[in-house]
Amino acid sequence: MLGTHEHPNLIAILLLLLTLETTLRWSSAATSIAQELEKGFWAAPESSTASFQAVMRDPSGNFSLGFLRVNEKQLFLAILHVASAEALWVANPRQAASWSGTTRLLFNGSLVLTDPKTRLSWSTATNGDRAVLLNNSNLQVQSSLRALWESFHSPTNTLVEGQNFTSAMALVSANGLYSLRLGDDFMGLYDDNQHLLYWKHSALETKTEIKQGQGPIYARVNSQGYLGMYQTNDKLPADVQKFNSFQQSVTSTSFLFIRLEPDGNLRGYYWDGSNWLLNYRAISETCDLPRPCGSYALCTPGGSACSCLDNRTRFEPGGGCSNTASADSDFCGEGNIGGRKSFRVVRRSGVDPPHKESLSHVTTSSLVECEALCQNNCSCWGALYSNSTGFCYLLDLPIQTMLGTGDGSKVGYFKFSKGEGGKKRVWVRVGVVVVVTVLVMVGVVVMGGGVCVRRWKKRKEDDWASPGPYKNLGSASFRSIEMSSSSGG
Ligand SMILES: *[C@@H]1O[C@H](CO)[C@@H](O)[C@H](O)[C@H]1NC(C)=O
Ligand SMILES: *[C@@H]1O[C@H](CO)[C@@H](O)[C@H](O)[C@H]1NC(C)=O
Ligand SMILES: *[C@@H]1O[C@H](CO)[C@@H](O)[C@H](O)[C@H]1NC(C)=O
Ligand SMILES: *[C@@H]1O[C@H](CO)[C@@H](O)[C@H](O)[C@H]1NC(C)=O
Ligand SMILES: *[C@@H]1O[C@H](CO)[C@@H](O)[C@H](O)[C@H]1NC(C)=O
Ligand SMILES: *[C@@H]1O[C@H](CO)[C@@H](O)[C@H](O)[C@H]1NC(C)=O
Ligand SMILES: *[C@@H]1O[C@H](CO)[C@@H](O)[C@H](O)[C@H]1NC(C)=O
Repeated sequence: MLGTHEHPNLIAILLLLLTLETTLRWSSAATSIAQELEKGFWAAPESSTASFQAVMRDPSGNFSLGFLRVNEKQLFLAILHVASAEALWVANPRQAASWSGTTRLLFNGSLVLTDPKTRLSWSTATNGDRAVLLNNSNLQVQSSLRALWESFHSPTNTLVEGQNFTSAMALVSANGLYSLRLGDDFMGLYDDNQHLLYWKHSALETKTEIKQGQGPIYARVNSQGYLGMYQTNDKLPADVQKFNSFQQSVTSTSFLFIRLEPDGNLRGYYWDGSNWLLNYRAISETCDLPRPCGSYALCTPGGSACSCLDNRTRFEPGGGCSNTASADSDFCGEGNIGGRKSFRVVRRSGVDPPHKESLSHVTTSSLVECEALCQNNCSCWGALYSNSTGFCYLLDLPIQTMLGTGDGSKVGYFKFSKGEGGKKRVWVRVGVVVVVTVLVMVGVVVMGGGVCVRRWKKRKEDDWASPGPYKNLGSASFRSIEMSSSSGG
């Protein structure tokens, strides 16, 4: 039975709890979320979750580990910056789990994500005591406070402030096309599909030199506002790429990260307490990006940017100029059915190959000789010739965006698979039999195109960074995150 004299005590306790809560700055949603996971823990996604279901948070409440829901059905185990709903790390970026009751996150010494439906089985393969999320967003599996595994050692597309990036790691863009890697004395951005180094930053070595045999270099985003490259001396960087916020006073609210984005650019962002501000970008000229205008297109620096190599096609933003050539297009030159060429040729002057410094070339004495090397070669998609140097570049992969130059002595020769445009002459010349063949071919190409589109869509679906709120950095629209506590056991 409660006596009246007991009420003041209750109120005092309530007040104390309230004060505690405000001092610790716990958000009301975060209070029920675990700060560490011990053996026996498990959680499953709940059907009522809209976009994110937190499982564990860091001591500051700024970061959260949980289930990210993408396209309704897909689940990624992710570390989010809570206030902005930005995913800073994803456990399973290449393979989604399904958002279903049979998908499990558990801790049994390893942190394990399993999904019998998609057969996903991701594990830290450790034998630790607990899993914790540190206040720098690093997820660790620890055994007596020693880290056995940490998410900082396997980044996805993002490197946060203080995280060491070594030559054993890569940042990979969410669409899987591009990567950031370290070389002996440089960092580079690679188009993994085209085996192309499209951006390279060599260490300037103004403060310290990089010495042979002293071990590999590593990189780190420094809270002072730069991306540093280091070798032996952790205090003196061998190279500094300054951000806009360079040497601005570091406050407790600020936070930095760099991210390799789906367009192939590496960008840096600065958290000012309420928004992510663009702070750095590796590539500032659009035409220097790996595929700025898509396939069969031309990018002209400083000009109207994107146009088409073939003036009979129109540039479609996001789609490039022509998708009819699929990877198995037949470019074998003469000697095909009825002696026809299986492709048509478009020539353009004033074009350069993109990133030619990292392309190999042969030297020929004339444009004709250069084109001949490509014409009869089934795996050649095009050739570019510079009359002044005699350099001949052969393109052995589907044609992406070429670079427009004002220099008319640079000529490009491009193969287009037949299937659209330029068909009339063939029809007139070869007659009804060929019309039928062409129709069949068109059918095949269209079907092939359908497969391409489907594949592409599939890839887009697997792209965990594609749902609206998570990629709109800098906009105020990404507060749509919904927190709900996990079902632990
Ligand atoms: C933890 O669970 C996974 C998946 O069920 C299993 O493969 C692994 O052997 C378990 N590890 C330990 C230490 O029990
Ligand atoms: C993060 O934690 C470390 C110790 O674990 C502490 O020194 C540091 O001040 C914390 N940083 C923030 C931003 O809370
Ligand atoms: C990064 O590397 C430096 C030098 O080896 C080390 O002192 C520091 O603790 C590392 N930071 C993290 C977060 O691992
Ligand atoms: C972390 O939380 C503090 C206190 O709420 C806030 O001032 C700061 O901006 C947060 N940092 C980040 C990176 O969100
Ligand atoms: C397209 O380019 C070709 C060759 O440069 C030129 O002869 C033709 O007139 C152009 N057609 C159009 C529609 O601009
Ligand atoms: C055809 O072109 C490819 C790519 O440019 C090249 O590797 C190959 O050697 C060429 N084949 C012939 C027979 O010239
Ligand atoms: C190419 O170079 C040769 C000799 O250098 C010159 O005679 C010719 O006019 C040039 N052709 C073009 C299209 O610039």
